[in-house]
Parts: sequence; C-alpha cells; structure tokens
Amino acid sequence: MNQFGENVFILDHPLITHKISILRDKNTGTNEFRQLVEEIAMLMGFVALSDLPMTKVPVETPIETADTYVIAGRKLAIVPILRAGLGMVSGLTALVPSAKIGHIGLYRDETTHKPVEYFCKLPNPIEERIIVVCDPMLATGGSGVDAINLIKKHGGKKIKFVCIIAAPEGVKKLHEEHPDVQIYVGNLDRELNKNAYICPGLGDAGDRIFGTK
Ligand code: URA
Repeated sequence: MNQFGENVFILDHPLITHKISILRDKNTGTNEFRQLVEEIAMLMGFVALSDLPMTKVPVETPIETADTYVIAGRKLAIVPILRAGLGMVSGLTALVPSAKIGHIGLYRDETTHKPVEYFCKLPNPIEERIIVVCDPMLATGGSGVDAINLIKKHGGKKIKFVCIIAAPEGVKKLHEEHPDVQIYVGNLDRELNKNAYICPGLGDAGDRIFGTK
C-alpha cells in the first residue's frame, strides 16, 4: 500500500524506470521517444492486466485432455485520451491483439472551465468490458476524471487507468473522484508547476510523441 491507498499502484519497476529516464532526457528524439512510450505501455499493461479473469477450457494435447485457461469475457477495450494517449495504444494492443479501441477527446472551455467532449467513440457493449484508459501524463487529473466520467456515463464499469508519469496532485484527484478505478503509474513525480506541467516530468508528451511544437 502507498500514500494514496487501495487501487493505486506505483510500479517503479527497474525496466520501466530505466526507459522513463530516457524519455525524460530533452535530447531524446521523436523516433526513440515514440518507441519507448510503446515499450513502457507494454510493460505497464503486463502488470495492469495481471488480474484479468480466466475461464477453464478443455484442450486436446497430443497426450491427453488438459484443463487450460484463457481470458474470460468480452474483448478488452483500450481507450486512449487524445492525443498523447494514442502513443500507448500499440504497446497495449501488442499484449492483447483482440482488444477493441475507443477514443476520447476533451478540452476545457476557457471561460467555464468545464470539460467539453469533442470526440467519444467507445466499443459496444462497453458495460461488459474491462476498459484500459491510457494517457502518458496524469497531471492535474482533470482530463482523466472527465474521461472516466464520460465512460461511466456510457455504461463503463470495470476501468483501469494507465499513465507513465503522474503528479501526486493528479493521482489524489483521480483516486478521490473514482476510487473504484485501478490507477497504474510508472513513476510518481514531485509536483506540478504553475503551468500544470509535471516536475521533473518530460515536457509535453503529445508534442514529443508526434514531433510537434
Ligand atoms: N501533459 C504533458 O504532456 N506534460 C505534463 O507535464 C503535463 C501534462
């Protein structure tokens, strides 16, 4: 258990932390950055999906009938929060090629500060699927909270949130608003700065994945 309580998992795994350290380096170029985000997503997904329900199926081996186990239930839904979350999709689908992919796009209205949904397309029926929401950076927690509100509004129930780097403020907010959601964090950073960037962080994940700025 950590300072946030149940359902928050700070992975701090050597393989993940090593790759995140390279991501943090401002001299890491777009190509390597994108590749690392994919690899980290895969490593994190391996941990985050370790409690998937299994069902028993008999299989004829060349020797005898064996009771084997396969993943139970509906195909998983992977839901990146646009745009940076897209960088994690290939790593997660490498683990679960049969997964369906939804997309959520949100922005904050500058005057009302309310989230405005500009895109939401989720696989049906969403209520029966395990849903993995991904966004590399959990900063204030605002878009994570809003995205999960939206998924729940559409009927989503079993939700996991996977992020590469988080600020304590974001983890606290997301966990308080959605205590039922399992939150997986690669590295927990120190704090947010006044522009809501994670410190030390890695800068703007979307710009670094897509080579924009
Ligand atoms: N989003 C980013 O891409 N980086 C941050 O530091 C915070 C939010």
